[in-house]
Amino acid sequence: MSLDRRDFVKFISGSAVAAAAIQFGCTKNSLMGISPSEADELLLAEGFSSDIIVSFGDSISQRESFGANNDYIAVIPLNSKKSEVIMWVNHEYPDLPFGSKWFGGSQRTKDMIDQERKSVGGSLIHLKKQGSKWKLIKDSSYNRRVTGESKIPLIADREIEGSKVAEGTFANCAGGVTPWQTVLTCEENYFLFYGEREDGTRKVSEGRLGWESFYQNPPEHYGWVVEVNPLTGEAKKLTGLGRFAHECATCIRTNDGRVAVYSGDDKRGEFLYKFISNDKDSLEKGELFVADIRKGKWLSLDRDKNALLKEEFKDQTAVHTYARRAARLIGATELDRPEDIEVNPKTGEVFVCLTNNSKRENYHGSILKITPENKDHGSESFKAQDFLVGGDLFSCPDNMAFDSLGNLWFCTDISGGKMNKPPYTKFKNNGLFYVAMSGRDSGKVVQVGSAPRDAELTGLCFSPDNSTLFLSVQHPGEKSKSLEKLRSHWPKGGTEIPLSSVVAIKLPPIMTNDKA
Ligand code: FEO
Ligand code: CA
Ligand code: CA
Ligand code: CA
Repeated sequence: MSLDRRDFVKFISGSAVAAAAIQFGCTKNSLMGISPSEADELLLAEGFSSDIIVSFGDSISQRESFGANNDYIAVIPLNSKKSEVIMWVNHEYPDLPFGSKWFGGSQRTKDMIDQERKSVGGSLIHLKKQGSKWKLIKDSSYNRRVTGESKIPLIADREIEGSKVAEGTFANCAGGVTPWQTVLTCEENYFLFYGEREDGTRKVSEGRLGWESFYQNPPEHYGWVVEVNPLTGEAKKLTGLGRFAHECATCIRTNDGRVAVYSGDDKRGEFLYKFISNDKDSLEKGELFVADIRKGKWLSLDRDKNALLKEEFKDQTAVHTYARRAARLIGATELDRPEDIEVNPKTGEVFVCLTNNSKRENYHGSILKITPENKDHGSESFKAQDFLVGGDLFSCPDNMAFDSLGNLWFCTDISGGKMNKPPYTKFKNNGLFYVAMSGRDSGKVVQVGSAPRDAELTGLCFSPDNSTLFLSVQHPGEKSKSLEKLRSHWPKGGTEIPLSSVVAIKLPPIMTNDKA
């Protein structure tokens, strides 16, 4: 958000975010936080415990294995007892050091790239609660992969760059779950894979992974929101939600029963979007809007409603394909890298992580709160204000989730090259934070987890019985210079290579309302 620097500083000094403990209601129970840590461990506050569910490379079926750099997690319940789920997990990008054993310098080979194309996209895995622990059901018929090689239809009015089918999905960062229990997985930094170009002609950046040397796929087939049926693995790219570095796609019903999908473009100075479906049970058709934060208005990207869009773009598919340019043209507000978005289930307020923007000297980011007019996500007006500002207890907020009691949890993502260095030194490794949203400590922030070295914690997702927080530990040891100089050995310890993994964190009983 483009706040005046003066207002921003005033807000930091006036915000009371420092807290070491949180009191629950009028009981004597309290949650003691932890201090930031540099340890190569997943540290958790007292009362929490964790188990590894699955790690990069683990076999999930006869033919397939769990992909690289696990990120967003969604769970779809499979039975009424809530003890069996299909879990969807995003695989954001290939694991170059520990998958391809590539630390830079040497030639990238086709074998390497073929293996990498199989390691991205997402996994569907069947989990069952046995006793108090969630276990992966290996070889379940629900277990399957969607990858960088899968053929995925583009749902659009016409062909895009000569085709209505894209090869693969990748850069899958965060996502969402639709009211009809399908999963949305978002293509974020797609330009790293097959590059980026303007208007289908002028190349503005090359892919950085060397994939283009062997596969010449059009960049316009990526940067979309992909809907996946968790029961079948069937996928489709929903072009009506626009093409940009989609962080997430957070679904919520409008007052008249359609679906609003909030999505941020995680790039410095890019925008916040909202899609509203035409139908109550499909996201294939609808209207895309972009936020004017200063005026509190959602601006329509419907070409038929705006002369500027009509002049610049030949049809609505072109508006969707070059959504950034269209949004800028109609006066959207530049933001400091919008990341995850969550809707408070108790109030309907929308929370948006603005992670940082070093170009504007905003090193620590903030969480923005948007209140839709008349509590209606279909409304075209809203109020926006800062909810929390980083720099005191936390820095670089990224992924969030609300628990069943309506409290907010979030993780931080200080990038690997900057962690434990100024101006980030005091925050140490990335963390997991809890914010009480009611009671005497409402608004207080307490750190409840600390990531292994170089890792980001992401993909927060509560189990349907509210007993467990599923979490991705992504890219531990990513700054290692070679297999001989590993910066992390998490999770196996000893001299083992580090592995991105999904963990199940059991919550202390005071933090759940588990009646299951
Ligand atoms: Fe993949 Fe914006 O985080
Ligand atoms: Ca993120
Ligand atoms: Ca989230
Ligand atoms: Ca981030």
